[in-house]
Amino acid sequence: MRGADTAWATYLDVPKVTQQPSVPSRREGVAVHPALASFTVAMDTLVAEQQDPVAVADGTCARLRPLLADGTWLADEHRATSKDGYQEHVVHVLPEGRYSLVALVWLPGQSTPIHDHRCWCVVGVLEGDEQEERFRLHANGEGTWLERQGVRRYHVGQTCRLVPPDEDIHRVTNVGDAAAISLHVYGADIRACGTSINRTFDRPVRDTSGDDTAVAWRDRDPAPAVGHR
Ligand SMILES: [Fe+2]
Repeated sequence: MRGADTAWATYLDVPKVTQQPSVPSRREGVAVHPALASFTVAMDTLVAEQQDPVAVADGTCARLRPLLADGTWLADEHRATSKDGYQEHVVHVLPEGRYSLVALVWLPGQSTPIHDHRCWCVVGVLEGDEQEERFRLHANGEGTWLERQGVRRYHVGQTCRLVPPDEDIHRVTNVGDAAAISLHVYGADIRACGTSINRTFDRPVRDTSGDDTAVAWRDRDPAPAVGHR
């Protein structure tokens, strides 16, 4: 696997600044829910004081859990679904762009493409059940393929994190009978960069075979990111 990930420099080399209060952007005249305000204050402090991406992601998991305990704070405009695919609603971006909070809303059966991320990512389930499959890229003289590393199911209140360059190829599906909502915190300005995806993977998928042909993927035939945040 790769060593230090140069992609991190994009976010970790941002100089510290004297931050202005991070106020969630909402419609004029609509009060910010106290739970969301508490989260943004805690996150502002975390990203200002901590530079290590693993520590930031772990700290984000802890700060996200109170938001998952009661979803009434999430506005109706951020709960909208579509039969055309899961929806992504940007709830808040720190003005300096050090993190973004996005609500992803899924109807039953809707799924992401298989993808990886360009920045750290923390996911917490607010409503419903979501399944996450993680993959590793393999290659030999015959071509490349994805090996499924495992499948996990997440319920309301549970969180997980992905920190590039490892633990980072996955696909998420709403496997429940009702709509699901998950909160995603990304270590980037999602409004500015448009997506947290590094690339998608259109490769054959095999279940674990135990061979030793896993390869790093970030330097191999990069494909453009599409759609999913
Ligand atoms: Fe993802």
